[in-house]
Amino acid sequence: MTTKIITPDRIEEAASCLKSGGTVVFPTETVYGLGGDATNSLAVDKIYRAKGRPGDNPLIVHISDISQLSTLVSEISPKAQLLIDRFWPGPLTLIFKKHPLVISKITAGRDTVAVRFPSNPIAQKLINLSRTVVAAPSANLSGSPSPTVCADVIDDLNGRVDYIIDGTGCEIGLESTVADVSSGETVILRPGAVTLEMIKELIPDAYLDSGLIDQDSIPKCPGQKYTHYSPKAKVIVVQGKKDAVHSFIQAKLTECDLCGVLTYRGGSYTGASLVLDAGDDMNSYAHNLFSHLRTFDKHGVHTVFAEFEVEEGMGTAVRNRLYKSSGHTIIEV
Ligand code: TXA
Ligand code: MG
Repeated sequence: MTTKIITPDRIEEAASCLKSGGTVVFPTETVYGLGGDATNSLAVDKIYRAKGRPGDNPLIVHISDISQLSTLVSEISPKAQLLIDRFWPGPLTLIFKKHPLVISKITAGRDTVAVRFPSNPIAQKLINLSRTVVAAPSANLSGSPSPTVCADVIDDLNGRVDYIIDGTGCEIGLESTVADVSSGETVILRPGAVTLEMIKELIPDAYLDSGLIDQDSIPKCPGQKYTHYSPKAKVIVVQGKKDAVHSFIQAKLTECDLCGVLTYRGGSYTGASLVLDAGDDMNSYAHNLFSHLRTFDKHGVHTVFAEFEVEEGMGTAVRNRLYKSSGHTIIEV
């Protein structure tokens, strides 16, 4: 298949392809999404095939107008409404009891459906023009880090989708927060830029799914059980106070070939093949993490030592992705 890589001024063309069952990659405020018509079973098949995604991992349905929600869900609790009013459009996906007409390939046979209203104007315009609701997982090959720049989308999906819209966005850099509001409780299944602390301001008894805290319990978000966000390089998280982290990694570099370092709040190393900085706060770390992991791979780095410090807020989302990309190889110093 030939993939058309276009700028947003050709968005109408991409929208009509989407409407007629094709696949279109588009930017959002979190990461790029691989979109298809969520009401068209063949289009949904194409999404799974393009990503190489297991069929038991359900998709998020994207809307661009709140009136579309009633076509997807069978009930909206008062707590869910509070979250919608505060955080939509934005990087929060909500899990509802599904409407009977939502096709089972979207939900992987569950009785719940994930819905998101992205804030990125290109995403909104594409969904609007396509006149449907759009299923869109992150636009990476299954298992690899989500793409936050168009070049990374092209690396993974060129030849596997109909259109790629090269647009601006992905300021956040990590996928949306996923919160389950399908029962009386509000449970965060995947941490993101809408943090637990922000949700608790509206719903004080909201909590993180235990699968996110305890490695041995089973996560409720099916996608969280797969190896995720993994670059080809082996990632080792080195966690603790800045000085101790630096000395530990510097010592390791003397015995390590083709090793790279992902620094947090800067720092220099001798003997590293590549040093990339994640930035000065957790928002920057989130923004840079996936694209830096891909850059290490492009430079043939075999092992990446990632500096990390435990923080709340956005730090919870960064920790979740970083730990997963390391296969939970974490050294506390
Ligand atoms: O930021 C994002 O959410 C991006 C952009 C493109 O919108 N999308 C994204 O989709 O990250 P994906 O498919 O890579 O991740 C969706 C996650 C998966 O872990 C999936 O298992 C979970 O949401 N999910 C979807 N439907 C669910 C459901 N009914 N119950 C529980 N988890 C669900
Ligand atoms: Mg994904």
